[in-house]
Amino acid sequence: MLIARTLAELRAGCTELRATRSALALVPTMGALHNGHRALVRAAAESGATVATSIFVNPLQFGASEDLSRYPRDEAADLATLRAAGCHLAWLPDVTAMYPPDDVTTIDVAGPAAMWEGTARPGHFRGVATVCAKLFGQVRPDRAYFGEKDWQQLQVVTRMVADLHLPLEIVGVPTVRESDGLALSSRNRFLDSDQRRLAPRLYMALMTAVETLAKGEPVDDALSAARQTIEAGGLAVEYLALVDGPTLQPLQTLHRPARLVVAAQLGSVRLIDNVAA
Ligand code: PAF
Repeated sequence: MLIARTLAELRAGCTELRATRSALALVPTMGALHNGHRALVRAAAESGATVATSIFVNPLQFGASEDLSRYPRDEAADLATLRAAGCHLAWLPDVTAMYPPDDVTTIDVAGPAAMWEGTARPGHFRGVATVCAKLFGQVRPDRAYFGEKDWQQLQVVTRMVADLHLPLEIVGVPTVRESDGLALSSRNRFLDSDQRRLAPRLYMALMTAVETLAKGEPVDDALSAARQTIEAGGLAVEYLALVDGPTLQPLQTLHRPARLVVAAQLGSVRLIDNVAA
């Protein structure tokens, strides 16, 4: 696996990968890699592409109240994971390579970025869209792979790529879950054992709501039952909604493609999840 730490090394690495004449796939990550990331690399590799993975903890997508320094970092373990997963190139830029001090451009996406995570974390999607646009410009991939775990992020990036006519395809990969349903996330490591036991309620409540909605029950009833299940476990629901899949607009009745999206606080850990409805 090639390792690039500077733009010059990245350019040389990408030229080498392109010489294979396979498509080039990018898996953008912030490191702390788990089985969810492995699934992204695997999906990219199984598509026949050569795979580049970026590891960059993007300061621009963290709010003032969010602890950037607490974000888990383990480069040696991440590189071992990527090698084992069949990644061909690891792109490890530093903050100055990504955001030179004289930078003046950021990307603001409205539409799917406006609500939910967009409201809870002001500026978050500006950070995500800006870093993804930069990564796409640096690596120039044919495809980029994102997890459905961050459903809203997937829609925001898809919309940005369409609106800016960027020449790549965005591919969504289904959420990887623990056997009890908890969606894999780098933040799960901060759950203590009691919280870890309670966390799968989020998924349980979403799946029960999906069944209720499929039976034709009113959306408000399904959502308030789900909220009760989640809050009975001591989680504080920040938002819970039925939304249109691509636009993230709230739905009062079930129109597919629909998604149930939720964010809840469990102690100091903020959990998000979503399922198709
Ligand atoms: O999902 C993530 O890990 C990040 O938001 C991403 C897409 C790598 C951008 O920093």
